[in-house]
Amino acid sequence: MADTIKLSVNGVEVEVQAGKNLVDAVAAVGIEIPHICYHPALGADGNCRMCLVEIEDGRPPLVPACKTRAVEGMKVRLDSEKIKKIQRDIMEFELINHPIDCPICDQAGECILQDYYMKYDGAQSRMRVPQVVKGKKIDFGAGVVHDQERCVLCARCVRFTRLITKTGELGIVNRTDQARVNIFPGRPLSNRYSLNVVDLCPVGAMTSSDFRFKQRAWFLTKSKGICHGCSKGCNIFIDHNREKYQDDIIYRYRPRHNEQVNGYFICDAGRMTYKQENEKRLRTPLASGQQADLESAINALKRRLDQAANPFFVVSPNCSLEQMHAIQQLAAQKKATVSGFSEGYIQEGDGDDWLIQDDKAANRAAFAVLGIDETKEVFNSALKGADLVVNFGNDLSLSGVNNTSLGTAEMAFIGSYANSCADAAAYLVPVASYSEDSGSIINVDGVLQRYETAVKKNVPFPNMLSVIRQLGGGLDDVQAARTSLGNTVEAFKKLDLQNIPAQGLALTASEVGNVTA
Ligand code: SF4
Ligand code: SF4
Ligand code: FES
Repeated sequence: MADTIKLSVNGVEVEVQAGKNLVDAVAAVGIEIPHICYHPALGADGNCRMCLVEIEDGRPPLVPACKTRAVEGMKVRLDSEKIKKIQRDIMEFELINHPIDCPICDQAGECILQDYYMKYDGAQSRMRVPQVVKGKKIDFGAGVVHDQERCVLCARCVRFTRLITKTGELGIVNRTDQARVNIFPGRPLSNRYSLNVVDLCPVGAMTSSDFRFKQRAWFLTKSKGICHGCSKGCNIFIDHNREKYQDDIIYRYRPRHNEQVNGYFICDAGRMTYKQENEKRLRTPLASGQQADLESAINALKRRLDQAANPFFVVSPNCSLEQMHAIQQLAAQKKATVSGFSEGYIQEGDGDDWLIQDDKAANRAAFAVLGIDETKEVFNSALKGADLVVNFGNDLSLSGVNNTSLGTAEMAFIGSYANSCADAAAYLVPVASYSEDSGSIINVDGVLQRYETAVKKNVPFPNMLSVIRQLGGGLDDVQAARTSLGNTVEAFKKLDLQNIPAQGLALTASEVGNVTA
């Protein structure tokens, strides 16, 4: 381990990374120092005192671990009677006016107060006077609903709007048991990252109006995924649940920490893209304009493709690297031109200087790496001569291509979401979306990331790679596609695509700009 130091915790020597505060340093070796107000993205505020520890080196005996840097030789005690009493006292203090809301609180099951009470307290309430009644269900704007009674005044939400978004919509007003988190009159939360305060809130005081009361936290399977809402590729948790006799439904996206991509946060718009995974889906296969079962639709499209004189393949900038590669291989076999024309996915000026990008496609960077043309000229000229257009999920209407401008060519659509291209298709094959499939994508900063299947539908859609194989392609699955990419694409020859690290792989400028050998 580079730059490590040794210190002792409860008399046991541990080796930790240098330069961190005690909370983070010992957390990395599996030791928990309970903390409420501290969050690594917001820094130490020191207001809750839950993280007090004893240091046996002559300095003031009690220090907040969140504000104390771990140093060589430090002797830290978390297990003394004094520390245990402090932890119980802090919990009692936090719970004095806290309502017994757990049965109806969204945070139940993932709440610091619940967890710490069970772990560090467990005492009966000594309150013999009525609790202070505070405001409930206060609309803070941007889909955030606040419950003042549950708030422990850790100020994480306030610090987020001050330090991170720098919009400052939240503040703590008044003092003692009159202290409340609030918005300023007539100034609701209005930044594009507002819902992060719901994740940051360690208790159920900040809830999302979209998620409130939809699911209990313990019923949700929390799978890892990557947001496809723009070219940043933020890391997310896909929280989903499959109730008896029902389909597997996604209930929310939450940010997943990746320092190389999105830190601890995601944008509100990307967070809401989970909805299109449940709704807006293509479900009914078509063969020659008629409803068909899946096998018949794929077989009919295969026959039509085999007969096509001038097939033309259109690719979505949201297809994975593996899908794009398989499409290119099939195109080479069928002598089809491939176009990634998708300028309408780019919303000029919509991005900011943090996470949100102009480009609302997740994998446009792969076009350059794989040598897929995305110019309008090539698209128009290929379209002119085509008798069959096979569209792999590209919503051309975004780029101003309507169904009449598609000319006389017959249309096939292989994709996940309903759009006007799918409406015009004589051949339609619904396929698994990114939350139901695995693959890899390259983000706007050239970070290659992989994602795995998160959601398993009752009646699964086929994945796009398997459909391409049935149409005559030669790649069996994602692994085969990665092997082939490694063998044939210059940028990937030296990389191990089968083992892309969890935090992604930052490609060099030449790799991102490279074109197929
Ligand atoms: S609303 Fe939540 S995050 Fe904000 S101060 Fe209260 S407990 Fe902390
Ligand atoms: S910034 Fe882009 S990738 Fe990140 S959450 Fe928002 S839409 Fe998704
Ligand atoms: S976490 Fe250290 S004082 Fe709150």
